[in-house]
Amino acid sequence: MSEVAQAVEAIRKLRPRRVVLFTGAGVSADSGIPTFRGNEGLWRNFRAEDLATPQAFERDPVLVWQWYEMRRDIIRNAKPNAAHLAIARLHDAVVITQNVDGLHKRAGSGDVVELHGNIFRARCVREGTTTLREAPFASLPPHCECGAMLRPDVVWFGEMLSEPAIARASAAMMGADLLVVVGTSGVVYPAAGLVSLHRGLSVEINPQASSLPSACTFAIPARAAEATPPIVDAILEGSE
Ligand code: OAD
Repeated sequence: MSEVAQAVEAIRKLRPRRVVLFTGAGVSADSGIPTFRGNEGLWRNFRAEDLATPQAFERDPVLVWQWYEMRRDIIRNAKPNAAHLAIARLHDAVVITQNVDGLHKRAGSGDVVELHGNIFRARCVREGTTTLREAPFASLPPHCECGAMLRPDVVWFGEMLSEPAIARASAAMMGADLLVVVGTSGVVYPAAGLVSLHRGLSVEINPQASSLPSACTFAIPARAAEATPPIVDAILEGSE
């Protein structure tokens, strides 16, 4: 029996009531958004760890903003794929995502915890106020009306995740009877560590082995857009 078939059978048997999805860049790869790690994740030979830091922004805000504008452009033109759309059919599920692309919400998911922020929000470095800004900026770095610089409202390496987001994500992980992990390398903490809080059935979808701190019950070596819809179908069958 294939891994998908085994996972589907276990989900049907369990009939899960409280479902949590934990997603990473791989869930958006099928929408044409490059992941961070791996060759396709490199931009002008910079790694995310070199650009997504307060130090990089202090040193060269224009360079950091150019990277974000390039990614904002790709994301603006991307559409949710079959994995985002399948997940959005789970009206009662909690979606915990490391992604800043907003595609789960665009697909229709109602309960989304964006652990690392949102790439279409900008934040004043002086006042801390945030604004939604989807269109490209006329010049880089952009500035707030108060005169201070704006930065992307995302969590950078070395920065704290929002307390309410972590609390909400932890509670959901602990209370879930099914966890579905889609497209994360599992190397960035504290996000990856949340998976260890879950006890119970878990299914991971990723074409490559991840480095999550605890192994899932079933690991499906397939693309998100291919393997997520049958898993969602099995969850919905159980709730009928
Ligand atoms: P990564 O880029 O580290 O990992 C992407 C994962 O997706 C890899 O394990 C791939 O094997 C998998 N993948 C690739 N294509 C896929 C597909 N079509 N379907 C399913 N999986 C696929 O991305 P994250 O784990 O999300 O943080 O990275 C975590 C954090 O590191 C990001 O949120 C970001 C980054 O630097 C910050 O910016 C703070």
